[in-house]
Amino acid sequence: MKEIKKIAVMTSGGDAPGMNAAIRSVVRTCAFYEKECIGVYRGYQGLIEADFLPLDARKVKNIINKGGTILKSARSNDFRTEEGRKKAHQNLVKENIDALVIIGGDGSFTGGVVFNEEYNFPIIGIPGTIDNDIYGTSHTLGYDTALNTAVEAIDKIRDTASSHNRLFFVEVMGRDAGFIALNAGVGAGAEEILIPEENLGIDRLLESLKRSRSKGKSSSIVVVAEGDRTGRNVFELADYVEENLPEYEVRVSVLGHMQRGGSPSCFDRVLASRLGVKAVELLLEGESDIMVGLINNEVTTTNLEKAIKGHNSINKELLRVSDIMST
Ligand code: F6P
Repeated sequence: MKEIKKIAVMTSGGDAPGMNAAIRSVVRTCAFYEKECIGVYRGYQGLIEADFLPLDARKVKNIINKGGTILKSARSNDFRTEEGRKKAHQNLVKENIDALVIIGGDGSFTGGVVFNEEYNFPIIGIPGTIDNDIYGTSHTLGYDTALNTAVEAIDKIRDTASSHNRLFFVEVMGRDAGFIALNAGVGAGAEEILIPEENLGIDRLLESLKRSRSKGKSSSIVVVAEGDRTGRNVFELADYVEENLPEYEVRVSVLGHMQRGGSPSCFDRVLASRLGVKAVELLLEGESDIMVGLINNEVTTTNLEKAIKGHNSINKELLRVSDIMST
Protein backbone atom coordinates (compact mmCIF):
# COMPACT_ATOMS: atom_id res chain seq x y z
CA MET A 1 0.00 0.00 0.00
CA LYS A 2 1.25 3.44 -0.98
CA GLU A 3 1.69 5.76 2.01
CA ILE A 4 -0.91 8.54 2.02
CA LYS A 5 0.85 11.87 2.48
CA LYS A 6 -1.53 14.30 0.85
CA ILE A 7 -5.34 14.24 0.83
CA ALA A 8 -7.65 16.36 -1.32
CA VAL A 9 -11.14 17.32 -0.19
CA MET A 10 -13.99 18.62 -2.30
CA THR A 11 -17.72 19.32 -2.19
CA SER A 12 -19.83 18.24 -5.12
CA GLY A 13 -23.44 18.34 -6.31
CA GLY A 14 -26.12 20.32 -4.47
CA ASP A 15 -24.63 22.08 -1.46
CA ALA A 16 -25.86 21.28 2.04
CA PRO A 17 -25.46 22.89 5.48
CA GLY A 18 -22.64 21.10 7.30
CA MET A 19 -20.36 20.80 4.29
CA ASN A 20 -18.05 23.46 5.72
CA ALA A 21 -17.95 21.67 9.06
CA ALA A 22 -16.96 18.49 7.17
CA ILE A 23 -14.21 20.31 5.24
CA ARG A 24 -12.91 21.66 8.56
CA SER A 25 -12.94 18.21 10.06
CA VAL A 26 -11.06 16.63 7.13
CA VAL A 27 -8.45 19.40 7.16
CA ARG A 28 -7.91 19.29 10.92
CA THR A 29 -7.71 15.50 10.99
CA CYS A 30 -5.04 15.69 8.28
CA ALA A 31 -3.18 18.25 10.41
CA PHE A 32 -3.53 16.01 13.48
CA TYR A 33 -1.88 13.12 11.62
CA GLU A 34 0.67 15.48 10.04
CA LYS A 35 -0.60 14.95 6.52
CA GLU A 36 -0.98 17.60 3.85
CA CYS A 37 -4.48 18.65 2.80
CA ILE A 38 -5.61 20.50 -0.28
CA GLY A 39 -9.07 21.75 -1.22
CA VAL A 40 -10.54 21.36 -4.69
CA TYR A 41 -12.84 24.15 -5.83
CA ARG A 42 -16.16 23.36 -7.59
CA GLY A 43 -16.05 19.58 -7.18
CA TYR A 44 -15.06 17.46 -10.17
CA GLN A 45 -14.96 20.51 -12.43
CA GLY A 46 -12.21 22.01 -10.27
CA LEU A 47 -10.36 18.72 -10.40
CA ILE A 48 -10.39 18.86 -14.19
CA GLU A 49 -9.27 22.49 -14.17
CA ALA A 50 -6.68 22.00 -11.37
CA ASP A 51 -8.45 24.60 -9.25
CA PHE A 52 -6.79 23.83 -5.91
CA LEU A 53 -6.47 25.59 -2.56
CA PRO A 54 -3.85 24.37 -0.05
CA LEU A 55 -5.51 24.11 3.34
CA ASP A 56 -4.20 23.95 6.88
CA ALA A 57 -5.86 23.91 10.29
CA ARG A 58 -5.97 27.73 10.58
CA LYS A 59 -7.46 28.21 7.11
CA VAL A 60 -10.65 26.48 8.20
CA LYS A 61 -11.25 28.63 11.28
CA ASN A 62 -14.72 30.09 11.79
CA ILE A 63 -16.43 27.97 9.18
CA ILE A 64 -18.07 25.31 11.36
CA ASN A 65 -21.14 27.55 11.65
CA LYS A 66 -21.33 28.63 8.01
CA GLY A 67 -23.84 27.40 5.43
CA GLY A 68 -22.87 26.70 1.83
CA THR A 69 -19.36 25.52 1.06
CA ILE A 70 -16.16 27.56 1.04
CA LEU A 71 -14.89 25.25 -1.72
CA LYS A 72 -17.97 25.96 -3.89
CA SER A 73 -19.81 23.15 -5.59
CA ALA A 74 -20.82 22.13 -9.09
CA ARG A 75 -22.43 19.38 -11.10
CA SER A 76 -19.75 18.62 -13.71
CA ASN A 77 -20.72 17.31 -17.15
CA ASP A 78 -17.05 17.15 -18.21
CA PHE A 79 -16.34 14.54 -15.53
CA ARG A 80 -18.87 12.25 -17.20
CA THR A 81 -16.46 11.95 -20.13
CA GLU A 82 -13.34 9.74 -20.20
CA GLU A 83 -11.31 12.72 -21.31
CA GLY A 84 -12.47 14.78 -18.33
CA ARG A 85 -11.60 12.03 -15.86
CA LYS A 86 -8.19 11.57 -17.50
CA LYS A 87 -7.46 15.28 -17.04
CA ALA A 88 -8.60 15.07 -13.40
CA HIS A 89 -6.28 12.13 -12.77
CA GLN A 90 -3.35 13.91 -14.38
CA ASN A 91 -3.93 16.92 -12.14
CA LEU A 92 -4.07 14.76 -9.02
CA VAL A 93 -0.79 13.07 -9.95
CA LYS A 94 0.85 16.38 -10.81
CA GLU A 95 -0.17 17.81 -7.44
CA ASN A 96 1.10 14.66 -5.60
CA ILE A 97 -2.34 13.98 -4.19
CA ASP A 98 -2.67 10.43 -2.87
CA ALA A 99 -6.34 10.25 -1.91
CA LEU A 100 -9.63 12.09 -2.23
CA VAL A 101 -12.52 12.82 0.14
CA ILE A 102 -15.74 13.60 -1.73
CA ILE A 103 -18.51 15.33 0.20
CA GLY A 104 -21.69 15.02 -1.84
CA GLY A 105 -24.71 12.98 -2.88
CA ASP A 106 -25.33 9.96 -5.10
CA GLY A 107 -24.36 11.72 -8.36
CA SER A 108 -21.01 12.67 -6.82
CA PHE A 109 -20.44 9.14 -5.54
CA THR A 110 -21.27 7.68 -8.95
CA GLY A 111 -18.44 9.79 -10.41
CA GLY A 112 -16.17 8.54 -7.63
CA VAL A 113 -16.95 4.87 -8.30
CA VAL A 114 -16.22 5.23 -12.04
CA PHE A 115 -13.00 7.14 -11.32
CA ASN A 116 -11.86 4.53 -8.82
CA GLU A 117 -12.57 1.73 -11.30
CA GLU A 118 -10.53 3.45 -14.00
CA TYR A 119 -7.59 4.73 -11.96
CA ASN A 120 -7.69 2.73 -8.72
CA PHE A 121 -7.48 6.05 -6.87
CA PRO A 122 -8.24 5.99 -3.10
CA ILE A 123 -11.60 7.65 -2.47
CA ILE A 124 -13.87 8.01 0.55
CA GLY A 125 -17.33 9.57 0.39
CA ILE A 126 -19.05 11.68 3.04
CA PRO A 127 -22.81 11.87 2.41
CA GLY A 128 -23.84 15.50 2.01
CA THR A 129 -27.29 16.30 0.63
CA ILE A 130 -30.39 17.76 2.21
CA ASP A 131 -32.50 15.00 0.59
CA ASN A 132 -31.28 12.22 2.92
CA ASP A 133 -31.60 9.74 0.04
CA ILE A 134 -28.33 7.83 0.51
CA TYR A 135 -28.23 4.23 1.61
CA GLY A 136 -25.91 3.36 4.50
CA THR A 137 -26.60 6.34 6.73
CA SER A 138 -29.61 7.40 8.76
CA HIS A 139 -28.68 11.04 8.20
CA THR A 140 -26.87 12.85 5.40
CA LEU A 141 -25.18 16.19 6.11
CA GLY A 142 -27.63 19.06 5.82
CA TYR A 143 -30.79 17.02 6.21
CA ASP A 144 -31.41 17.96 9.84
CA THR A 145 -30.80 21.65 9.14
CA ALA A 146 -33.05 21.59 6.07
CA LEU A 147 -35.81 19.97 8.11
CA ASN A 148 -35.60 22.70 10.71
CA THR A 149 -35.60 25.38 8.01
CA ALA A 150 -38.66 23.85 6.37
CA VAL A 151 -40.53 23.53 9.66
CA GLU A 152 -39.76 27.13 10.59
CA ALA A 153 -41.04 28.31 7.20
CA ILE A 154 -44.21 26.21 7.41
CA ASP A 155 -44.88 27.55 10.93
CA LYS A 156 -44.88 31.04 9.44
CA ILE A 157 -47.16 29.99 6.61
CA ARG A 158 -49.51 28.51 9.21
CA ASP A 159 -49.88 31.96 10.81
CA THR A 160 -51.12 33.57 7.62
CA ALA A 161 -53.12 30.49 6.56
CA SER A 162 -54.97 30.62 9.83
CA SER A 163 -55.60 34.39 9.71
CA HIS A 164 -57.22 34.08 6.27
CA ASN A 165 -58.86 30.65 6.65
CA ARG A 166 -56.86 29.41 3.68
CA LEU A 167 -55.51 26.13 2.43
CA PHE A 168 -51.80 26.23 1.60
CA PHE A 169 -49.85 23.86 -0.57
CA VAL A 170 -46.21 24.04 0.51
CA GLU A 171 -43.65 22.45 -1.78
CA VAL A 172 -40.44 21.26 -0.16
CA MET A 173 -37.30 19.89 -1.81
CA GLY A 174 -36.69 16.25 -2.63
CA ARG A 175 -36.89 15.38 -6.29
CA ASP A 176 -36.72 11.62 -5.71
CA ALA A 177 -37.30 11.29 -1.99
CA GLY A 178 -39.95 12.31 0.49
CA PHE A 179 -37.87 12.39 3.67
CA ILE A 180 -37.98 16.17 4.03
CA ALA A 181 -41.69 16.31 3.19
CA LEU A 182 -42.67 13.53 5.57
CA ASN A 183 -40.65 14.66 8.57
CA ALA A 184 -41.20 18.38 8.11
CA GLY A 185 -44.87 17.66 7.45
CA VAL A 186 -45.30 15.76 10.71
CA GLY A 187 -43.16 18.32 12.57
CA ALA A 188 -45.19 21.24 11.27
CA GLY A 189 -48.54 19.50 11.74
CA ALA A 190 -49.53 19.31 8.07
CA GLU A 191 -52.97 18.06 7.14
CA GLU A 192 -51.69 15.91 4.29
CA ILE A 193 -48.22 15.00 3.03
CA LEU A 194 -47.57 13.99 -0.57
CA ILE A 195 -44.35 12.08 -1.23
CA PRO A 196 -42.90 10.21 -4.22
CA GLU A 197 -42.71 6.90 -2.33
CA GLU A 198 -46.42 6.70 -1.61
CA ASN A 199 -48.89 7.92 -4.23
CA LEU A 200 -52.32 7.43 -2.75
CA GLY A 201 -54.00 9.41 -5.52
CA ILE A 202 -55.54 12.81 -5.73
CA ASP A 203 -59.04 11.63 -4.82
CA ARG A 204 -57.83 10.67 -1.38
CA LEU A 205 -56.53 14.21 -0.95
CA LEU A 206 -59.90 15.68 -1.91
CA GLU A 207 -61.68 13.32 0.48
CA SER A 208 -59.36 14.22 3.31
CA LEU A 209 -59.76 17.96 2.72
CA LYS A 210 -63.53 17.59 2.53
CA ARG A 211 -63.50 15.72 5.82
CA SER A 212 -61.37 18.40 7.47
CA ARG A 213 -63.85 21.09 6.46
CA SER A 214 -66.78 19.09 7.77
CA LYS A 215 -64.97 18.66 11.08
CA GLY A 216 -64.66 22.43 11.40
CA LYS A 217 -61.07 23.02 10.36
CA SER A 218 -60.80 26.51 8.92
CA SER A 219 -57.26 26.41 7.53
CA SER A 220 -55.01 23.63 6.33
CA ILE A 221 -51.50 22.91 5.15
CA VAL A 222 -50.59 20.25 2.61
CA VAL A 223 -46.86 19.54 2.30
CA VAL A 224 -45.82 18.34 -1.14
CA ALA A 225 -42.42 16.85 -2.00
CA GLU A 226 -40.92 18.29 -5.17
CA GLY A 227 -40.90 14.81 -6.72
CA ASP A 228 -44.38 13.64 -5.69
CA ARG A 229 -46.11 11.33 -8.15
CA THR A 230 -49.60 12.77 -8.44
CA GLY A 231 -48.77 13.73 -12.02
CA ARG A 232 -49.50 17.39 -11.30
CA ASN A 233 -47.11 20.07 -10.12
CA VAL A 234 -47.97 21.95 -6.95
CA PHE A 235 -49.72 24.80 -8.81
CA GLU A 236 -51.81 22.37 -10.86
CA LEU A 237 -52.66 20.52 -7.67
CA ALA A 238 -53.83 23.74 -6.06
CA ASP A 239 -55.98 24.59 -9.12
CA TYR A 240 -57.49 21.12 -9.13
CA VAL A 241 -58.44 21.34 -5.47
CA GLU A 242 -59.90 24.83 -5.87
CA GLU A 243 -62.01 23.66 -8.83
CA ASN A 244 -63.29 20.62 -6.99
CA LEU A 245 -63.64 22.11 -3.53
CA PRO A 246 -64.76 25.71 -4.11
CA GLU A 247 -65.22 26.16 -0.35
CA TYR A 248 -61.43 26.39 -0.10
CA GLU A 249 -59.37 29.49 -0.88
CA VAL A 250 -56.02 28.04 -1.94
CA ARG A 251 -52.49 29.44 -2.04
CA VAL A 252 -49.14 27.91 -2.97
CA SER A 253 -45.72 28.44 -1.44
CA VAL A 254 -42.58 26.84 -2.92
CA LEU A 255 -39.81 26.87 -0.32
CA GLY A 256 -37.08 26.02 -2.85
CA HIS A 257 -33.40 26.69 -2.33
CA MET A 258 -33.78 28.46 1.01
CA GLN A 259 -33.84 24.88 2.38
CA ARG A 260 -30.25 24.40 1.21
CA GLY A 261 -28.88 27.45 3.00
CA GLY A 262 -28.31 28.64 6.53
CA SER A 263 -26.14 27.86 9.49
CA PRO A 264 -25.96 24.10 10.12
CA SER A 265 -27.77 22.68 13.14
CA CYS A 266 -25.74 21.28 16.03
CA PHE A 267 -26.61 17.79 14.83
CA ASP A 268 -25.15 18.45 11.37
CA ARG A 269 -22.00 20.03 12.83
CA VAL A 270 -21.36 17.06 15.09
CA LEU A 271 -22.11 14.59 12.28
CA ALA A 272 -19.77 16.44 9.92
CA SER A 273 -17.01 16.45 12.51
CA ARG A 274 -17.35 12.72 13.18
CA LEU A 275 -17.55 11.70 9.52
CA GLY A 276 -14.58 13.88 8.52
CA VAL A 277 -12.34 12.28 11.15
CA LYS A 278 -13.39 8.77 10.13
CA ALA A 279 -12.92 9.47 6.40
CA VAL A 280 -9.31 10.56 6.86
CA GLU A 281 -8.50 7.77 9.32
CA LEU A 282 -9.85 5.15 6.90
CA LEU A 283 -7.77 6.53 4.05
CA LEU A 284 -4.67 6.41 6.24
CA GLU A 285 -5.49 2.78 7.06
CA GLY A 286 -5.49 1.99 3.33
CA GLU A 287 -9.28 1.85 2.85
CA SER A 288 -10.97 3.13 -0.30
CA ASP A 289 -14.20 3.07 -2.29
CA ILE A 290 -16.42 3.40 0.78
CA MET A 291 -18.77 5.91 2.31
CA VAL A 292 -18.79 6.84 5.96
CA GLY A 293 -22.22 7.22 7.53
CA LEU A 294 -24.23 7.03 10.71
CA ILE A 295 -26.32 4.04 11.75
CA ASN A 296 -27.81 3.82 15.24
CA ASN A 297 -25.63 6.79 16.15
CA GLU A 298 -22.45 4.83 15.34
CA VAL A 299 -20.11 5.86 12.53
CA THR A 300 -20.18 3.04 9.97
CA THR A 301 -18.93 2.31 6.48
CA THR A 302 -20.75 1.19 3.34
CA ASN A 303 -19.34 0.23 -0.02
CA LEU A 304 -19.68 3.31 -2.26
CA GLU A 305 -21.54 1.46 -4.99
CA LYS A 306 -23.97 0.01 -2.46
CA ALA A 307 -24.55 3.49 -1.04
CA ILE A 308 -25.65 4.66 -4.49
CA LYS A 309 -27.68 1.62 -5.47
CA GLY A 310 -29.26 0.79 -2.11
CA HIS A 311 -32.63 2.21 -1.23
CA ASN A 312 -33.71 3.98 1.95
CA SER A 313 -37.33 3.18 2.70
CA ILE A 314 -39.72 5.72 4.03
CA ASN A 315 -40.83 5.24 7.62
CA LYS A 316 -44.40 3.94 7.35
CA GLU A 317 -45.00 4.62 11.02
CA LEU A 318 -44.60 8.33 10.31
CA LEU A 319 -47.28 8.13 7.62
CA ARG A 320 -49.60 6.53 10.15
CA VAL A 321 -48.77 9.17 12.76
CA SER A 322 -49.49 11.87 10.21
CA ASP A 323 -52.88 10.32 9.38
CA ILE A 324 -53.86 10.08 13.03
CA MET A 325 -52.68 13.63 13.76
CA SER A 326 -54.86 15.10 11.01
CA THR A 327 -58.01 13.73 12.67
O1 F6P B 1 -30.17 17.06 -4.34
C1 F6P B 1 -30.53 18.12 -3.54
C2 F6P B 1 -31.52 19.03 -4.24
O2 F6P B 1 -31.69 20.12 -3.38
C3 F6P B 1 -32.89 18.41 -4.59
O3 F6P B 1 -33.78 18.32 -3.53
C4 F6P B 1 -33.35 19.36 -5.67
O4 F6P B 1 -34.28 18.74 -6.48
C5 F6P B 1 -32.08 19.66 -6.39
O5 F6P B 1 -31.03 19.50 -5.47
C6 F6P B 1 -32.01 21.04 -7.03
O6 F6P B 1 -30.82 21.13 -7.71
P1 F6P B 1 -30.26 22.47 -8.35
O7 F6P B 1 -29.83 23.37 -7.24
O8 F6P B 1 -29.11 22.04 -9.20
O9 F6P B 1 -31.37 23.07 -9.13
